[in-house]
Amino acid sequence: MKGIVLAGGSGTRLYPITKVYSKQLTIIYDKPLIYYPLSILMLGGIKDILIVSNKETIPMYQLLFGDGSHLGLSISYVLQPAPNGIAESFILGEQFIGNDNVTLVLGDNIFYGQLDFFYNALRRKNGATIFGYRVNDPERYGVVDFDKNGKALSIEEKPKQPKSNYAVPGLYVYDNRVVDISKNMKPSPRGELEITDVNNFYLNEGNLNVEKIGRGVAWLDTGTPEALLQASNFFGVIEDRQGLKVACIEEIAYTMKFIDRTQYERVIDGIPRSAYRTYLERILHEE
Ligand code: TTP
Repeated sequence: MKGIVLAGGSGTRLYPITKVYSKQLTIIYDKPLIYYPLSILMLGGIKDILIVSNKETIPMYQLLFGDGSHLGLSISYVLQPAPNGIAESFILGEQFIGNDNVTLVLGDNIFYGQLDFFYNALRRKNGATIFGYRVNDPERYGVVDFDKNGKALSIEEKPKQPKSNYAVPGLYVYDNRVVDISKNMKPSPRGELEITDVNNFYLNEGNLNVEKIGRGVAWLDTGTPEALLQASNFFGVIEDRQGLKVACIEEIAYTMKFIDRTQYERVIDGIPRSAYRTYLERILHEE
């Protein structure tokens, strides 16, 4: 399974921050936003990761992550010249995906809690799996509507009159056909290759699984200043209470056994004296 983090976009709702800065590098409590979606792929056991972004931001991600080898990952980068839509990532990532299946996570989406919904999806070899999460404001998202047996009936992109409260989060698991399906899509009236069109293609074929994510899981997206603050407060409370970090990619690399103890110690050696470093050291001593 390959993984893609889509981390470009225009970020207009965060202007003026995004006039000079990438949304996915803004801070959620104590680390850059992109750490959260990246850590979801890692927790799913995905080590081969492509970051799709624009020419201004790719060099910054390269500074942050390099080729990922210090974390036992293989991270590569590809340019999306303009934000032409989420489904374009499969076309840009065609070579990277090769013959594998692929999980896509949006660079501004955060999941927190029991991730079984994701682990189950990763076990399916064929078709696509997307998720449904109850929100207050479904009209801002792709909206999925279910019949009384819980089977998905339709997915509509940003409907004015949503048929349900279930939004489709930015985490999608596809079989390899997604590349060809995306290549055959036409841009929508807003000029984007829509992920909702890809999902509807699978739905019409009968190959789309839509799993509801329960209320015990937090799905946060961070497109607006209010949402950024809420997410920072949320993780500030949890990390402070537990004394454990969320989305600490070095810790995850170690606990997932992507790197051994010696490699982990080497990673720590490269980090300046900081609360973050002290935390990573503590993990070693608490084992
Ligand atoms: P959006 O929230 O749809 O868009 P945006 O980030 O450009 O923000 P705004 O709506 O305020 O202008 O994007 C979701 C995520 O996907 C976000 O992390 C940016 C990324 N993205 C791309 O990298 N390329 C694209 O073509 C699109 C549509 C989104």
